[in-house]
Parts: sequence; C-alpha cells; structure tokens
Amino acid sequence: MMQLDNYKHEVEKTQNLSTLDTLEEKRKEIDSSSLLAIEDLNVSVEGKNILNGVNLRIKKGEIHTLMGPNGSGKSTLAHTLMGHPGYKIESGNIIISGESIIGLSPDERAKKGLFLAFQYPTAIPGVSIANFLRTAINTVKRDEKDKIPISKFRRLLKEKMKMLKMDESFARRCVNDGFSGGEKKRAEILQMAMLEPEIAVLDETDSGLDIDALKIVSEGVNALIGPELGILIITHYQRILNYIKPQFVHVLLEGRIVVSGGAELAEKLEKEGYDLIKEKFTTESRNVVHR
Ligand SMILES: Nc1ncnc2c1ncn2[C@@H]1O[C@H](COP(=O)(O)OP(=O)(O)OP(=O)(O)O)[C@@H](O)[C@H]1O
Ligand SMILES: [Mg+2]
Repeated sequence: MMQLDNYKHEVEKTQNLSTLDTLEEKRKEIDSSSLLAIEDLNVSVEGKNILNGVNLRIKKGEIHTLMGPNGSGKSTLAHTLMGHPGYKIESGNIIISGESIIGLSPDERAKKGLFLAFQYPTAIPGVSIANFLRTAINTVKRDEKDKIPISKFRRLLKEKMKMLKMDESFARRCVNDGFSGGEKKRAEILQMAMLEPEIAVLDETDSGLDIDALKIVSEGVNALIGPELGILIITHYQRILNYIKPQFVHVLLEGRIVVSGGAELAEKLEKEGYDLIKEKFTTESRNVVHR
C-alpha cells in the first residue's frame, strides 16, 4: 500500500512537472515571438512607486507610440528598459527575444539590440561624435569579426550623416557639447542609424525640433524602420506621427497603460486632451464615491 502511494505521488509529481515544463515552453514561445515583452513591471525611484504594472509587447517591424501626461512615468519606463541604476524593479520582467534582461548592464542590453535615445542627452566634452560612435559600435558588436574597420566606419558615417542632412564637420564636434536642442536630437538619431538596433526607444526625440528638423529626423527614423526593427516612440505631440505612422498608441497614466489603440487614438488625444482618460482612470477619480 505504502509503495503504491509513493508511486502515485511520484507520478503526480512528474505530471505536474511536465505541465510546468509545457507552460514554460509556451511562455518562451510567446516571448520569442515578441522582440520586447514588458510584463507587469513595477518600478520605484527613491522609494516612490512610479510604474505600477506596465504590460507591453513589441514585435519585429511594429511601431508603437507611448503618450501620457507629464510625470506619468514614460521616461522612467525608458530608463528602466536601459538599466539605469536609479530605477529599482520591484517586480515584473523585461524580456528581449525570449530572455529576461533584468540584472544586465546597459552595455549588455545594447549588445542585445536595445537602443535608447534620451529625452535629455548628456554632453561628453573632449570626445568627438566620430570617436564616440566608433567606440559605441565596437562595444555593441558581439563578435570580433563584426567590429568595424576605420575605413568602413568613415564611409558609413558619411552616408548616414548625408541621410540626416548633417554637415560633415558635425562629426568632429564633441558629443552634445554646446549643441542646440535640435542638434542633440539629430545626433541621437545618427547614433541609432550607426548602431542599427533591433529595438529602439525614442524618448521625446521630437521635442524642441523646428518643423524642418522634425521632418529630417522623422525621415531618418523612417529610413531605419523595417521588418527587423521594433520601435517605441515616446511623444507628447501628434505632429511627429504625421511623418511616422505607428500601428499602436498607448497612454500611460500613473504608471500604468490605461488605454491602447491605433493611430486614431493619438489624433483623438490631440483634440480632446487627457481629461476624459484622467477622469476615468486616475486613482483619485476611482476613489470618489458617486452618490
Ligand atoms: N531620478 C528621479 N528622482 C526622483 N524622482 C524621479 C526620478 N525619475 C523620475 N522621478 C519621478 O517619477 C515621476 C515620473 O517621471 P517621468 O520622468 O518618468 O515622467 P514622464 O512621463 O517622462 O514625464 P514628461 O512627460 O514630463 O517627460 C515624476 O513624478 C518624477 O518626479
Ligand atoms: Mg519624460
């Protein structure tokens, strides 16, 4: 009797295990069909919860836009994706091509094909754009054989700068040192063009651009968009979306994505603002007792 019980127990154990295995396999399958999967992400900054359960999946070739009022957590999400040490992941997961990137350094994340254009890029006095880009490329390329020889690098840089209508002398200037707002944004797109990432997160790359620069930057981004790239554009304005067409628009509010839709959602928000969404989804409004 005892033996039979033990046997039954063993069988149940293996059955459970195999169900778990299948579930795990299934999860991997879903995750690897997404380039980037953000799962129930909770993030705090200096002890304050900023992201409260963000879920988002981006597949190859998809263009997503993230909108939302000031302070809703958009940049926090971007910094967390890139592995900024000030942003603490309380729970949840970030998965790139089926593998969690939590715990990886920003460098290692870049090697996995992630690129972030910052809302406020920092200056690196004493380092020219050209040198910075060459070091960045050689850091990000996994294999020795992919590292770029100087002649090829120069050719590539020239070609990409032409695409972004940047003057060649620009490459000799120090990174973001004394750059105008528009020049900084263009330099970010140049960096993206040179690194050829698989997932790009652009945090307000459109802000501070005049109409001509916006068009050039958008053309630059459009030239990079293709079946292999997944892109998340963080923006406040519909105007960049006149040039870059997203398939998905999400609204972040109080650290959660509360509404998702197609390009028409951005147009609606431009007309109506966030009032209706705030009314429906903010914690305050949810706590109001309706009599
Ligand atoms: N390093 C930090 N230290 C302290 N608070 C922070 C830090 N980073 C973000 N926060 C706080 O987190 C909240 C979300 O900020 P975040 O920059 O992510 O908003 P955002 O949606 O990008 O806003 P905006 O549209 O103004 O760029 C804000 O209340 C902000 O003050
Ligand atoms: Mg921001």
